Amino acid sequence: MSKVKTSYSCNSCSYKTIKWMGCCPECQEWNSLVEEVIAPAMVIGKAAAVSAGKAAIMTPLRSTPDKPKERMFSGISEWDRVIGGGLMPNSFIILTGDPGIGKSTLLLQISNRLAQKYTVFYFSTEESLQQVHQRAQRLGTINEKLLFSDQADLQTIVTTAQAAKPDIVIIDSIQNCYSNNAQSFPGSVGQLRESAFHLMRLAKEEGITVIVSGHITKEGNIAGPKTLEHMVDAVFYLQGEERWQTRVLRSVKNRFGTINELGFFQMGEQGLEQVPNINEHLMSEASYAPGSALTSVLEGSRPLLLELQALTIESKIGIPQRVVSGVDHKQVVLIAAILEKYLQVRLSAHDIFFKISGGFKVKESAADLGIALALLSSYFQQPLPEKTIVLGEISLTGQIKPINQINTFIREAEKFGVKQLLVARSQKLEKTACKVISITNVYELLSLFTA
Ligand code: TYD
Ligand code: MG
Repeated sequence: MSKVKTSYSCNSCSYKTIKWMGCCPECQEWNSLVEEVIAPAMVIGKAAAVSAGKAAIMTPLRSTPDKPKERMFSGISEWDRVIGGGLMPNSFIILTGDPGIGKSTLLLQISNRLAQKYTVFYFSTEESLQQVHQRAQRLGTINEKLLFSDQADLQTIVTTAQAAKPDIVIIDSIQNCYSNNAQSFPGSVGQLRESAFHLMRLAKEEGITVIVSGHITKEGNIAGPKTLEHMVDAVFYLQGEERWQTRVLRSVKNRFGTINELGFFQMGEQGLEQVPNINEHLMSEASYAPGSALTSVLEGSRPLLLELQALTIESKIGIPQRVVSGVDHKQVVLIAAILEKYLQVRLSAHDIFFKISGGFKVKESAADLGIALALLSSYFQQPLPEKTIVLGEISLTGQIKPINQINTFIREAEKFGVKQLLVARSQKLEKTACKVISITNVYELLSLFTA
């Protein structure tokens, strides 16, 4: 009898090895390698090729309908827009994000709306139906036509869907599905791959739209293999920080639409509420207090108007604290060093707390000048002029550098009542109604504050 072959696969990054190891050499995760049984290799030979399966029917393209199927709209426009203009029938989609961010809430809300027009089966593999019921009560009325099950057995889910042929199947979450055919625990790489494979076939062969939720690891990947991303038609992330109410829905892959659209929500008492005009909302929340500076960054194809907030306070201990969120902490430390070097402000003796309102994240160096002004505004305890947007990069020598696509930011800022721009002198600008303050280097920043 031939011996069953096993291999070990990392749950976190899908690294494979034939030997078990305590720590994954690829992603350094501990205890993440799980055993998988390798399926016996297919016999490749003439006889096998002849007897394998039935013959395919080859057709010319013109016999395939070229009109796309009608998309399914939930009426929650932030969702409908991001997924590419309504749900594509037959698609297999994953919604992922940190635990507790609101995936189940969003799935329940959209399936509730979709159930008004379509048959929707909701499989809650993670939470009991009682828990789902409690959540549903917070969200208000739940459509009687939306049907639930707490089955997590993949074969049962697939058989149920094949028999009843609903338009949409929701599975919350795929990590908790199990398949009796796979030889490993639910949530392991083997199980996930197996589940995804069957669900993909369910979507394509039965014409059912399948939406699954999935957790992400601390590195931000979908927990389990990258292969999951390749198997699905679209991957959506729900992001934000638990302590902030703003949630951003973004796409990293979408076979049926652009990945540049973003959806904005706020977690409220009654679930996720849409924020259709995020910039209006962000601008209405801007404080214009000392330590606040307005800047703009591109999120996908959309300019966002963000408030940067800094608090500097004389340090009571030897090593000053730097508590930074929303931007790379090194970017803030570097700008503080540049300001200290050229302007003699003693930030090294101050604790620095820094964040971006709404829990947004910024990576662009175009925010350098905004960070510098938020720090100086807090240090001097003087607010910046109101309705002023700050855009520029700062070099190590203290020069203010121009940024890309500035006119896109300015057009958006003008719509929301921005009256003044603070930019690099070398920046080329289109005609604008805003007053422009041009600066060459950080020395000129001091003139914005009274001595
Ligand atoms: P949930 O959808 O369970 O997150 P996930 O499925 O991504 O793990 O959301 C859980 C959080 O949302 C929880 O902290 C409670 C909060 N919440 C509200 O604030 N308001 C609501 O109406 C609901 C349903 C949840
Ligand atoms: Mg959940």
